[in-house]
Amino acid sequence: MRKILVIHGPNLNLLGTREVDVYGSVTIDGINKDLERCAKAKKVSLEIVQSNHEGDIVEKIGSAKGKFDAILINPAAYTHTSVAIRDAISAVSIPTVEVHLSNIYSREEFRHTSLIAPVAKGQVSGFGKMSYLLGLEAAISLVGK
Ligand code: DQA
Repeated sequence: MRKILVIHGPNLNLLGTREVDVYGSVTIDGINKDLERCAKAKKVSLEIVQSNHEGDIVEKIGSAKGKFDAILINPAAYTHTSVAIRDAISAVSIPTVEVHLSNIYSREEFRHTSLIAPVAKGQVSGFGKMSYLLGLEAAISLVGK
């Protein structure tokens, strides 16, 4: 069975109460439940992690080689700052899909640059929880059966 690593970056543990006007009332548990439901239907297995620490995310990606067939990541604020996460994705060369709940291109200018996008297979941005579900579909199609 194909294995996909799902990574939620910093502050996404606060979804549900955090900037509800931007991110909606969806919680991380709600997102994870829907991802698990979709994964079960598509017969792939998921490991889901959330971290507020850049180094933890780098280590998780760095040890993913040989264990996971694809990565689905919302790097959150690290999208715009983390050369380390970008280099980790590049180093393991595991197909990676970047997702964002909000449309990062319609927000503040500092969010318009993703350091992750050039090393990701693609990006889904702006569809709330659906960004994750569409991203998971994309990751599954990348890894095949
Ligand atoms: C985010 C967008 C980022 O700019 C922000 O720092 C986040 C969440 C999103 O999912 O829309 O924390 O990645």
